[in-house]
Amino acid sequence: MDFKRTRALVTGASSGIGEAFARELAGRGADLVLAARSADKLQALAKELGGRCGVSVEVVVVDLSEPRAGTGLAAELSSRGLEIDVLINNAGFGLFGPLHETEPERIAEEVQLNVAALTELTCALLPGMRARDRGAIVNVASTAAFQPVPYMSVYGATKAYVLSFTEALWAETRGTGVRVTALCPGATETAFFEVASEHASIGRRMPADRVVKAAFRALERGRSTVIPGLGNRMLASTPRVATRQTVARLAERTMRPKSRSAGSPRPQRA
Ligand SMILES: NC(=O)c1ccc[n+]([C@@H]2O[C@H](COP(=O)([O-])OP(=O)(O)OC[C@H]3O[C@@H](n4cnc5c(N)ncnc54)[C@H](OP(=O)(O)O)[C@@H]3O)[C@@H](O)[C@H]2O)c1
Repeated sequence: MDFKRTRALVTGASSGIGEAFARELAGRGADLVLAARSADKLQALAKELGGRCGVSVEVVVVDLSEPRAGTGLAAELSSRGLEIDVLINNAGFGLFGPLHETEPERIAEEVQLNVAALTELTCALLPGMRARDRGAIVNVASTAAFQPVPYMSVYGATKAYVLSFTEALWAETRGTGVRVTALCPGATETAFFEVASEHASIGRRMPADRVVKAAFRALERGRSTVIPGLGNRMLASTPRVATRQTVARLAERTMRPKSRSAGSPRPQRA
C-alpha cells in the first residue's frame, strides 16, 4: 500500500504505539492528524515530523473518553476540510485491580475510549473510504482480546470487542480498496503500565516501532489480525487447547495482584 499523499488520523499519537505509528506514517509520506489530550507533546511531534519528513501535520487536542467524543472529532476534521484515508484507532488504556475496588467513573472512561470512540470514528470515516474505494483502518486491540483477563476484566472485554468488530469489518471490506486490520500486541515498551500497573505486564516488552512494523506488514498482506511476536501468538492460541474455565483460572493465577497471593483466601474452584 502506498501511503504517499494519503492523510492519516492517529489517535493516542502523543506517546507509545500511537507515536510510533505517526513516525512510520510520516516516513512513508503520509500527511497526519494527531489526536490526544497532551497538547504540548502533540505540537512537538507535529513540528518534528513536519520538518523532517516534509508532510503536513495537524493537531487535534481531544479527550476521547468523553461521551460522543469520537463523533465530535470526526465532525471537527470535516469542518477543517480534512479527508481521512487512514485511520489508526490506537488511543486506549487499561485499569488493573479487582473490579469491585475500581472506580466506576474510570471504568466508564475506559469503555468510552477503548470501545465507543473507536467505533464512532470507524462509523464516521469508513463510508468516505468505501465511497473512494481506498483506505485503511488499524484498530489496536491486544493479546488481552483472546481470553478473559481477571483483574483487568473490563480492559480484556473492550479488546475482545475491538477484535470482533474489526474482524467483522475485515470480512465486509474484503475485495474492496479498503484494508482493515486488528493489531493485537502483547506487552509493549510504552507508558501503558504507568496507568495500568507494572503487574499487568507479562513477558518481555517489545519496542513500539516493531509492533507498528508488524501492523504495516499485515495491512500489505490484507490480514484481518496480527499478533506481533511468536511468544504472544502462542499465548493467544491457549484458549484453543483448553476449556474456557481452565483458561480463566490460569489467567487469574497469572494476573492475581501480589498483595492477594499471601493473605487472600484461594478462589473457589468453579
Ligand atoms: N503497551 C502495551 O503493552 C499494550 C499491549 C496491547 C495493547 N496496547 C494498546 O495500545 C494502545 C496504545 O497504548 P500504549 O501502549 O501506546 O500506551 P501509552 O503510551 O500510554 O499511550 C496511550 C495513548 O492514548 C492516549 N490517550 C489516553 N487517554 C486518552 C483520552 N482520554 N483521550 C485521547 N487520547 C487518550 C494518550 O495520550 P494523552 O495522555 O496525551 O491523551 C497516549 O497517546 C492502547 O489501545 C492499548 O490498549 C498496549
